[in-house]
Amino acid sequence: MKITVFGSGYVGLVTAACLADVGHEVLCMDVDKARIARLRDGEVPIHEPGLEPMIRANLEARRLAFTRDLDAAVSFGLLQFIAVGTPSGPDGGADLSQVLAVAQGIGERMTDYKVVINKSTVPVGSADRVAATIGAALEARGEAIDFDVCSNPEFLKEGAAIEDFTHAARIVVGTDSPRVEALMRECYAPYIRLQEKLIFMGVRDAELTKYAANAMLATKISFINEIASLAERLGADVEQVRRGIGSDPRIGYHFIYPGCGYGGSCFPKDVKALIHTAEGVDYPARLLQAVEAVNHRQKQTLCAKLSQALGGDLAGKTIALWGLAFKPNTDDMREAPSRTLMEALWAAGARVRAYDPVAMPECRRLYGERDDLALVADRGQAVAGADALVICTEWKEFRTLDRDWLKARLRLPVVIDGRNLYDPGSMHAAGLLYHAVGRGVPGGAPEQGIITGADKRRDKTGMGTATAE
Ligand code: UDX
Repeated sequence: MKITVFGSGYVGLVTAACLADVGHEVLCMDVDKARIARLRDGEVPIHEPGLEPMIRANLEARRLAFTRDLDAAVSFGLLQFIAVGTPSGPDGGADLSQVLAVAQGIGERMTDYKVVINKSTVPVGSADRVAATIGAALEARGEAIDFDVCSNPEFLKEGAAIEDFTHAARIVVGTDSPRVEALMRECYAPYIRLQEKLIFMGVRDAELTKYAANAMLATKISFINEIASLAERLGADVEQVRRGIGSDPRIGYHFIYPGCGYGGSCFPKDVKALIHTAEGVDYPARLLQAVEAVNHRQKQTLCAKLSQALGGDLAGKTIALWGLAFKPNTDDMREAPSRTLMEALWAAGARVRAYDPVAMPECRRLYGERDDLALVADRGQAVAGADALVICTEWKEFRTLDRDWLKARLRLPVVIDGRNLYDPGSMHAAGLLYHAVGRGVPGGAPEQGIITGADKRRDKTGMGTATAE
């Protein structure tokens, strides 16, 4: 099949590469000149395991090409995937301007039947807006050419996007047209194992499914983070609680890892957008508002715990940071907890010495050269002489740790772990003041079991380091 993909961002590139890889002819279009030039040379501007070799192989086989030419892009594919950005607007709603600009471009140029497929995450009702935009552009030309708009949301995780595409748990297609259904079956047919994963439904059902999936996952994370905060205050270990609840198949072990808050390009943006959509239909989405608020608070706990462990004064301190990316196997720092932490540290007058296996160029791009940010070659350099260590990303290479080595390098033996990488007992035994997420505090849980209201008032951070009365 001939397929056009609009957008050479994360979703567009993975979609284009995976569809070309099974023999479709794919033309990927983007307005960014430099990006298209690099892609034509097989240089992939994002860090995604397996993507660059796949793109190179398909460029060589001439099944995949890149263009800036909108005329060529519109005339090429029978299927026209829209995979451009839908950033959060100032009010939290998704900004559809890029999607509608593509729709306008299609409507102004198309000369035969097209299936326009919304791959970007777009609010419920967007397919109707895309159809209206194309329809209006055709009318302005005095043309009456047939087209369909369907919704085919992506469920790709960064760092595992190719695997997620080729071994998807489901492919959701929203359409009420039997013709589109047949064409979408044909599109995914080469992926034999995907054929039985196709779920057809109404357009609005598919649009809401995407948001509901991400909102559910974000809810699970905020839920376990809330339980972790309670565990810290009640002298319980959230890791034991996680094991205990995950064993119930109705709850399950996936996505209930406590941490320093969810980040990335999807969860924060999609939860916001769904809250905004709900407001638009006069339904205050209380649960989703709480999910967002808990996540916001969770991202701030790293700095609060650090400040408390260092006696409240961060000015002039040098803080080592392991991990900048919002999660491992990506250089993406969008909405990363490391950013909330760094910005709070800088505001308090502290310096950051950070190491990340891949995200340091991205960090430099975001923050530029500054005196209070050093990016160093390995985790050892980050901690040498630093006042304390904070871990923001669970990169595999951080999982092993020589505790004595670490203690010898830090000026103060303070470790704030936002990802629960280490066993608190052995950290404390090595003389490290180890604060993980929901795992008690150095020195053990409060002796009396719970912290009283009076303790909480003395302990301003509410982190539970005060001893029980
Ligand atoms: C997510 C969805 O998983 C994917 O289906 C959707 O299409 C896009 O959004 P992604 O943003 O790449 O994918 O990352 P994901 O691996 O889902 O992690 C999101 C965030 O949640 C990360 O910050 C991660 O650290 C955090 N997380 C995840 C937790 O804190 N605990 C968990 O148990 C799982």
